[in-house]
Amino acid sequence: MKILGIETSCDETSASVVEKKATREEVTVYSNIISSSVELHAATGGIIPERAAREQIKYLIPVIVDALWKHKYPNKKEDYLIKYKIAPEILKKDIDAIAITVGPGLIGSLLVGVETAKTLAYVFNKPLIPVNHLLAHLYANFIRNTKYEIQNTISFPAIGLIVSGGHTDLLIFKNETGFKWLGGTRDDAAGEALDKIGRLLNLSYPAGAEIEKRASQVVDSRFSFKSPLLHTEDFDFSFSGLKTEVLREVRKLEKMDERTRNEICFATQKAIINVLVAKTLRAAQKFNVRAILLGGGVVANQTLRDEFELRAKRLVLNPHIFSPEKKYSTDNAAMIGAAACFHSKTENWRNIEANPELYFSA
Ligand code: KG4
Ligand code: ZN
Repeated sequence: MKILGIETSCDETSASVVEKKATREEVTVYSNIISSSVELHAATGGIIPERAAREQIKYLIPVIVDALWKHKYPNKKEDYLIKYKIAPEILKKDIDAIAITVGPGLIGSLLVGVETAKTLAYVFNKPLIPVNHLLAHLYANFIRNTKYEIQNTISFPAIGLIVSGGHTDLLIFKNETGFKWLGGTRDDAAGEALDKIGRLLNLSYPAGAEIEKRASQVVDSRFSFKSPLLHTEDFDFSFSGLKTEVLREVRKLEKMDERTRNEICFATQKAIINVLVAKTLRAAQKFNVRAILLGGGVVANQTLRDEFELRAKRLVLNPHIFSPEKKYSTDNAAMIGAAACFHSKTENWRNIEANPELYFSA
């Protein structure tokens, strides 16, 4: 089944064509086009929802046209007018269903994607599959990894950790589709904490990738920040205190030089990674799982990946750690298509609505 996935929950506008063969677990990505308005938001230090949605209105159709075109003609460059003419034919003939992010996210941004997807489903008479953006971050792990010819098959039960700009959640999967929510952040998400601390340090938005880069410039730090809720028995997280702790240290400084900035990044990253890894591995042990699936923008962080690998090896049950290729860790439509391959229940387009507060139900 070939699916056109569409993602517009935050500042990205993305469309992708993916396919999962009935006999195989893995999802093949034929195209994954992403247009981001992040540079606009970097200038304002955060996302202005209204501006994000306005950009998405401009770019969504060109992005969909490109995704359809590239899936059919991966190596053929063509004039835009030709692409616009051919794309509807490709959608009509080659695509079996459309998958759309219905939440959670910014209401204006979600509406742009959902209403466009509903229109396409109606006009082209295609089934429409509503997708939860958070879950989709974990299904990015089913995308065939081009780096390895044969990807390790994901075994169950498995723990899923979602760490994005807006969410931090732990889930237990008994199989590919059945899951239960174990816990999540009580306040800020891990990515949100990184972005807010980045702002304290005058880094541009979003700050996660730069914090990683700066942290790698030093091997130690004179700062040491607490890993919140590290020792509690639950599977909850809390990151707003960390931001306050960093702010307190920043206020004490006489001057902020590059070395100090890098050391704060190092200590911040360490505190966040420490609790993410510890709690996920504790859940893995408690439920005796065979795999851990990581997902969300923060999972693009290599130190986080390395730390998971290292500490999982020390466990007797030695669960296999899966993380998506980095381009599928941050927001993209291929993961929306991938999630729809597994949760392929279609809905009449009339019943599909954007839901900014969507969370977990299974
Ligand atoms: O999943 P995502 O692309 O968007 C949401 O659904 O929120 O995640 C964005 C978050 C941002 O907070 C960003 O700072 C963080 O992912 N991020 C990183 C890295 N790349 C992006 N955090 C740490 N290290 C990175 N390399
Ligand atoms: Zn996301």
